[in-house]
Parts: sequence; structure tokens; C-alpha cells
Amino acid sequence: MPSPLRTASPSDTFAAVSEVLVPPIAKGVIIRRPGVLALAERWDVGTRAVQRMQRLSDGYGPDPLPLAIPGRDMALVLSNDDVRRVLGDTPEPFAAATSEKQAALRHFQPHGVLASHGPERQDRRAFNEQVLGSQLPVHHLAGSLLAKVVEEADVLAEIIGRTGRLRWEDYIEAWMRTVRRVVLGDAARDDHALTDDLASLRAAGNFAFLRPTPKKLRARFFRQLRGHLDRAEPDCLAGVMAETPASEMTRPAEQVPQWLFAYDAAAWASYRALALLGSHPDQAATVRGELPDDPTADPPDTEYLRACVLESLRLWPTTPVVLRETTAPTTWRNGTLPEGTSLVIFAPYFHRDDRYLPEAHRFAPEIWTGNTGGPQLGAITDDAWPLIPFSAGPAVCPGRNLVLLTTSAMIGTLLTRHDLRLQAPHALDPDRDLPGTLNPFELTFNA
Ligand code: HEM
Repeated sequence: MPSPLRTASPSDTFAAVSEVLVPPIAKGVIIRRPGVLALAERWDVGTRAVQRMQRLSDGYGPDPLPLAIPGRDMALVLSNDDVRRVLGDTPEPFAAATSEKQAALRHFQPHGVLASHGPERQDRRAFNEQVLGSQLPVHHLAGSLLAKVVEEADVLAEIIGRTGRLRWEDYIEAWMRTVRRVVLGDAARDDHALTDDLASLRAAGNFAFLRPTPKKLRARFFRQLRGHLDRAEPDCLAGVMAETPASEMTRPAEQVPQWLFAYDAAAWASYRALALLGSHPDQAATVRGELPDDPTADPPDTEYLRACVLESLRLWPTTPVVLRETTAPTTWRNGTLPEGTSLVIFAPYFHRDDRYLPEAHRFAPEIWTGNTGGPQLGAITDDAWPLIPFSAGPAVCPGRNLVLLTTSAMIGTLLTRHDLRLQAPHALDPDRDLPGTLNPFELTFNA
């Protein structure tokens, strides 16, 4: 009988918890806390976390590293082969629906696919993939969705023209209007209250087990959401939902909050991509070179721009921790892990591991060329280095192609209208290592 894997010492456990696990929780797992993000940037906690993971892997070897946390079996995944195995063998024996996720999501989407296991996961996953067009290179509604993005980008471009700058507050407002139109239809464009209610429910999610569910708020949110879904405008995701078969198990409306809130991450990713382009003139020139005259061209061929968004997500992943929970005892090179172990894949460690990745700390869109969308993005391949901004394998983000379609259209339109340059003090120097943390909320651009 193989013995259990060697556990990290108490001091290494303390270092791993405080430097790797606590910062993402403090920043807010379900909704970001801007104040904490500003501090994280100042202390560059991202770089420290990656260096800590490197030291742990040098010291303990390639097997997952169990942490000495009383009452909880938790292990850090340290090698690329194990990332492939864990993500590839999801959901058995590596369940995506971990107890942490279920606790955080119970306030507003207990039946969302993210928190589902077994037959329910299969059913809801298929529904999500169908509506989001995950298996298609381009969503079948791409033309209509792009038109919505470009219209909202133009409204924002007009504000930039008037004020001479782009600020986060204006960007996120334009982005959320776009998202409501894409997901729920044009009549939802100005329903800021819906987004605000979801934000309050998500804030409860940050406290996972600790807070009771705000039931009145949840009822109001779903009442309002159902109103938009029932309208089922044909040129948005709600319209596709209405045409997609659902079973007793599916709970279609409960899949939607995830789409709305996951689109937040796309705002940070695209705004950071603008920051990279606003400080790297060579890459910006390449992007401009491929932009179509008509940004709603269906589908626009903007592979390099998509690669820039993927680079933004590699450098600053919006889901830094991908979690799994073992549903059976598992055997590794030098020992076993018990059933019920949480496995932590810390994406920044793999994305920024300068021991293996020469481009780790620079803006290198060419890393992604040839893999910027379609079903193959997030496929598990034997030799590829695990760059996993959208995760990979059977639970890979089913929204990844939609994200790349909509973010590249927003960025492309803004860059067609304005020359956006990142303002000091945040200017990112192409000749120096990029920071491990970049707080999008404080970035401003001159036009
Ligand atoms: C920059 C934007 C986004 C990023 C980086 C991202 C990334 C991710 C990641 C890392 C996961 C976890 C997968 C796992 O546990 O292995 C995930 C799950 C998921 N994402 Fe996204 N996502 C984004 C936006 C979106 C959008 C806009 C949608 C929908 C329109 C979406 C739909 C989902 C769904 C439904 C799941 C759950 C999948 C499952 O458990 O099977 N995501 N996403």
C-alpha cells in the first residue's frame, strides 16, 4: 500500500497560505474589492506568490504538495504533467464542483453548472455549451453580437473624444451595457439595477459559508432576470436559450448569473490588454495592421488582437486559482492523496514560471498565435506548457470564444477611433519585467 505524500512543513504551509492562497481570497473570489487590489499591486503580491511556488517545487519535487492545514486536506499542484492530469480527468476523480465553490455560489446560483456534479453537471454543461457556442469557432450570432459591441464602443469612443481620456469608470459602464445587450437583449441595456443586485449577491458570495443568503434580494434579482429571459429577443443569448432544449434538471435561468458575472473578468482582461497595447508601440502597430475597416465584419480576422487579450490573461489571470476536489483516493509518483482533497492549481505560477518560459514576464502575443479561439483553445495536449486562463479539459470555460469575440471587438473599435496611451504612473515599460499584479481600476489613458 503506497504511503501518503509528504506534507509541507508548518513554516512552508504558513508561507503558502499567506502568500499564495490568502491574496486571491482577500481580493474577493466572487467579486473584486478595489481597495485590496490597490494594496496588492503596491506590494506586488503576484510576483511573491509565484516565487514562493517556485521555491516549494524546488524543495519538494513534482508531486502535489499537501499543506498542513488542520481539518482540511488541501494540496498544491506543482508540475505541468499533473495540471494536465487533474484538468483532463475532470470531473472523476477530480470534481470541479468543490465545496468552496458550492458555498460561494449557493447565494445566487446553487444549480449553476460550476457548482454541479454527476448527471446534473453533464446536463447543464451541455446546455451552457450549446447556448454559448463553445464547440464552434465563432458563435452563430456573431454578426448581431458584434454590432452591439461596436455600437457601445462607439458611444464610449465619443466620451473619450470629448474628455481626451479613458477612465475605468467609463469603460466598465460601457462594458456592462454591452454585456446586458449581448446576454439579455437590447431592452436590458440600461438595467443597471440588475447588475447592481447581482453585485450585492456576489458580495455575499465572497463570504461563502459565513453569511446567510439575502433571500429578498435574490428573489428580486431572479424576477427581473426572468423578465428579460421571457422576452427572448432573437439576436442575443436569451433568444438562443429559448430555442435550446432543457430538461427538468437544467434550470436554465440559474445558468445566466454566471454569464453575467463572468463577463466582469472580460472587462478587466480587455482593459489590461488596452494597457499593454497603450505602452507597447510595436505590438499596437501589429494590431492596427490587422483591424478591418468595418469592425462588424463577420467574423473579423483579428488573430493577433485575440492573442493580446490572451496575453493579458496569461500575465494577470482573472481566475488565478483553479480548484478541484478528489472523489476517490489518488496515487502520484511518490505517494497517495485521500478522497476529499482540494487540489489547487495556481495559474500565475505556470504562466509566469521563468525557469521554463523565457517570455514569462514580457508581453508576447506570439505565444498564442495559432491557438486563439475555437474548440482547441483549452484542449489538453501532451507537450504544451499549461497556459490555462480559461482552464482546460472537460470543464474548460465554455464562454472563452464569446469572450475573445466581444473583447477583441471592443478593443479593436476603440483603437480604430483613438490612439490610447497609458498614463503615468502605471506606464508598463517594454524593456522591464511586467509587474505580477496590475490593478485595472486605477489605469487611465490619454487619447
Ligand atoms: C475573461 C473572461 C473569462 C475567463 C478568464 C474565464 C475563465 C474561466 C475559468 C478559469 C473557469 C473555471 C473552469 C474550471 O474549473 O476548470 C470558468 C468557468 C466557466 N465560465 Fe468562464 N471565464 C470568463 C468569462 C466567461 C463568460 C463571459 C462566460 C459566459 C458567457 C463564462 C462561462 C463560464 C461557465 C458557465 C463556467 C463553468 C464551467 C463548468 O464548470 O463546467 N465565462 N471560466
